[in-house]
Amino acid sequence: MRKRLREKLSEAIPQEQLRKVYNSFDIVGDIAIIKHNDLQNAEVVAKQIMAVNRNIKTVLTPISRITGDFRVRELKLLAGENKTNTTHRESGCIFKVDVEKCYFSPRLSHEHKRLAGLVQLGEVVVNMFAGVGCFSIVIAKTQSQTKAYSIDVNPIAVQYMEENVKINQVCNSVFPILGDSKDIIQTRLQGVADRVLMPLPEKALEYLPYALSALKKTGGWIHYYDFQHAPGKENPAEKTKMKVAQKLDSMGATYVFANSRVMRPTGPNWYQTVLDIQITALPNKF
Ligand SMILES: C[S@@+](CC[C@H](N)C(=O)[O-])C[C@H]1O[C@@H](n2cnc3c(N)ncnc32)[C@H](O)[C@@H]1O
Repeated sequence: MRKRLREKLSEAIPQEQLRKVYNSFDIVGDIAIIKHNDLQNAEVVAKQIMAVNRNIKTVLTPISRITGDFRVRELKLLAGENKTNTTHRESGCIFKVDVEKCYFSPRLSHEHKRLAGLVQLGEVVVNMFAGVGCFSIVIAKTQSQTKAYSIDVNPIAVQYMEENVKINQVCNSVFPILGDSKDIIQTRLQGVADRVLMPLPEKALEYLPYALSALKKTGGWIHYYDFQHAPGKENPAEKTKMKVAQKLDSMGATYVFANSRVMRPTGPNWYQTVLDIQITALPNKF
């Protein structure tokens, strides 16, 4: 689709703009989201996207940055039906979502699948920032014996998560919970988990002690996500490791960084990174 779009657009807009479009739109279900709202001819581009891909019913563009606890942004209609809700398919799962009221990124699909491949039979997972349930549902579909406690503070995301759990028939494996994951862990989920997911870079460091306290006494795995500024030859994943090591050392945890990698660039010299951390011994106070 992107190749055909490039061909069509090359007649309609300048080369420089074409490059921007090519790398900057996401498709969520039947909605395309063009990221560059500074794009001239945005409506032209939007109409061409719909002409090239007949499954696209709506084209939107962000008019604010992703902000607030819910990690959401305002979107403006460029072409097609005026709507923000859709149904997205990924890894054999179905996700209903409102792209304006909930966080959703189709760019995480590889990571959802990668994590699902790591989960072992019978594991208990705590997903601290679950959104509409993507990680938990892909995990439950891959490893049916899992129990995944899936927490989110956004009531609309949790409503969608509840619906997605039903549609994907994982009611016995995925348990949506509305609330601040710090409070939920402290009151209900201490010492239960084999694996904790922290897919919210903005809060991961602050919430790391709660992730540790959710793990079973024997330890387990933490998947830690970060945004890292790494100009020049700096290694973004190594910078994340240094930051997290300092925090874990200060808490007295014993750990191994089993895997670290850069998931994707997120801006000039900015990267999203992930660490798979094996906690081999919890701090004494836990
Ligand atoms: C980056 S999104 C998660 C994406 C999701 N895991 C996925 O794969 O699509 C972060 C989520 O964390 C939620 N959130 C923010 N602060 C929170 C908190 N203190 N406790 C629980 N959820 C929180 C937001 O509402 C948002 O849905």
